[in-house]
Amino acid sequence: MGNMGENTKKESIVNQGVSFKQIGPSESERRKWLIACGATGGAAAVAAGIPFAVSMAPSEKAKSAGAPVEVDISNIPPGGLKTVEWRGKPVWIVRRTPEMLESLDGLDSKLADPKSARKEYPTPDYAKNTHRSIKPEIFVTVGICSHLGCSPVSKFVKGAGSDMGNDWPGGFLCPCHGSTFDIAGRVYANKPAPDNLEVPRHMYVTDSKIVIGRDENGEA
Ligand code: FES
Repeated sequence: MGNMGENTKKESIVNQGVSFKQIGPSESERRKWLIACGATGGAAAVAAGIPFAVSMAPSEKAKSAGAPVEVDISNIPPGGLKTVEWRGKPVWIVRRTPEMLESLDGLDSKLADPKSARKEYPTPDYAKNTHRSIKPEIFVTVGICSHLGCSPVSKFVKGAGSDMGNDWPGGFLCPCHGSTFDIAGRVYANKPAPDNLEVPRHMYVTDSKIVIGRDENGEA
């Protein structure tokens, strides 16, 4: 499993060595990613032949969809966002700062599904919490809007320093039709997007490595 997907996946990091004040991914970075994914959307499937222990053997359906990918998260700085490809989709891993996590408090009444109860993009039980993650600081999500599939942009600058209004706590904006999400991918109420950003099945291999597309219950 050690080399799972390591040679085939694309990844990028923004916000290197910076804090909550900075923005990522940029518009150009996002476009570049989408173009790259469009050109090589099947890249993740290349790893489908990697053997697994029998007890964790993926189903035929899972294999055809694309193998799990292993991601080194040790090089994501506080406030940084790393993008990797899984099944042709961009998956974001955000290392949230304490300030970012605090921004989640008190938002429930403004959100469409604050408890991640909706079933369209079912949230794994281990992410059915305010921060929607296994470890509070590490957020893993599919960077695709639940409305019509655009890729949101991160708007991590909060308050008056942002272009999102003085009370903006930081989060994500889908530029296609204006849906907004908090820093845990929870969609705000009365927006076109009907659901929160998807949290894919994932698990920790070590403190610095995660696998996307598989957890203790099997493959996605
Ligand atoms: S695709 Fe995101 S708001 Fe429409």
